[in-house]
Amino acid sequence: MKLEAGQVAVVTGAASGIGFAIATALGQRGLAVALADIEAKALDQASRRLQAEGIDAQPFVCDVADASAVETLAAAVMARFGRVDLLVNNAGVGGFLGPLWDSHPNDWSWAFGVNVFGVVNGLRAFLPRMLAGKGGHVVNVASLAGLTAPPFLSTYVATKHAVVGLSESLKQELAAIGSGIKVSVVCPGVVQSRIADSERNRPADLAAAVKTPAALLDRIRAAFAQAMADPMPTDELARRVLAGIERDDFLILTHPDQNPQILQRLVSIEQSVGRNPPAAGH
Ligand SMILES: NC(=O)c1ccc[n+]([C@@H]2O[C@H](COP(=O)([O-])OP(=O)(O)OC[C@H]3O[C@@H](n4cnc5c(N)ncnc54)[C@H](O)[C@@H]3O)[C@@H](O)[C@H]2O)c1
Repeated sequence: MKLEAGQVAVVTGAASGIGFAIATALGQRGLAVALADIEAKALDQASRRLQAEGIDAQPFVCDVADASAVETLAAAVMARFGRVDLLVNNAGVGGFLGPLWDSHPNDWSWAFGVNVFGVVNGLRAFLPRMLAGKGGHVVNVASLAGLTAPPFLSTYVATKHAVVGLSESLKQELAAIGSGIKVSVVCPGVVQSRIADSERNRPADLAAAVKTPAALLDRIRAAFAQAMADPMPTDELARRVLAGIERDDFLILTHPDQNPQILQRLVSIEQSVGRNPPAAGH
């Protein structure tokens, strides 16, 4: 979708990191921006920063894991702006760090609640309104972990694969009904943000129960810290995301150094296909 002044964007998880950078970049292109986030104070500061730049930015406190709260958000955004052209489902959490067998059901509920149901709730609330309007574009922020599967991050990997999968279905559904609404799914590598501090937003009723032996957890944490070193600045990430939206790219890849890792999966699928030849006579 060509981004133009006068359009309206909704960005979830807009109070920090990638969401804030995307909201800023969209605002600087002349779009009005609805900023949604669960952290009221950070959200207020974020919207004030955009307003100080002359951007038409409006904060909406919203827990994306709560379907009725997202429906209320959609109604409030329509009441304030009258239209939505671009929906950026970005809010997300890092989830459980450790061996899968040590995870607690709460870890899965929290990660799926925000990373998957947050996206689904956004789509269910906004897409009918966009379909009834002028169309537009949907961006779901997944991760490199939606295309690759690093260890000790099973909840995160599972949620991000879900976001890639549902985005692919959605793209075909919109095309099947002849809608002009385009879908993009963003799969970034490491980006500067507060994602390593996601526990700040874990609801008390989904508390963690640490089972992993301390020595192993220390090793996992050290490897994770190393993997998170050298992050891409958020404004550079946002620049790449906006370029992908304007090219109508379905899959927006932002970290070229990760391409070999992504292609490795295709190689292994190709090898499996080779071991699964059509039966003779078929
Ligand atoms: N930072 C990275 O390296 C990286 C890489 C790939 C993908 N991502 C994805 O980018 C997205 C943004 O994360 P980030 O890295 O900017 O982290 P961040 O923690 O800086 O920002 C995430 C934002 O989401 C908000 N949020 C958390 N739970 C919420 C909820 N239930 N409802 C509404 N808002 C909620 C937080 O308050 C925060 O403002 C996430 O989906 C994340 O998985 C991040």
